[in-house]
Amino acid sequence: MAQLKQKVFIANIEELPEQLGRTVQIGDLELAVFKLSNGRIKAIENRCPHRGGVLAEGLVSGDSVFCPMHDWEINVTDGQVQGHDTGCVNTFKVEVENGQAYVLLPE
Ligand code: FES
Repeated sequence: MAQLKQKVFIANIEELPEQLGRTVQIGDLELAVFKLSNGRIKAIENRCPHRGGVLAEGLVSGDSVFCPMHDWEINVTDGQVQGHDTGCVNTFKVEVENGQAYVLLPE
């Protein structure tokens, strides 16, 4: 059986600056939302798996965000930490409709 999803508005696409993160709070869940240079919107958990750095404040390059605390590189598509470091963050599917981005959350 397909898992039900909750679809929650996160941003108007044109209001998101390219390659900068934005923190979006949905209940207890805090997301880091990014618009990449290719225009894709990504949403990941907003806490670095290392020591909880706020990923929305990190630098974005290509498909990665660099944690502002100790510069770990995290892929914003699969949530995996890159290079010699290990760990991952949760990622969330994003849908775009009529210039608006929504995140799909498990019910
Ligand atoms: S808290 Fe993110 S790299 Fe240390």
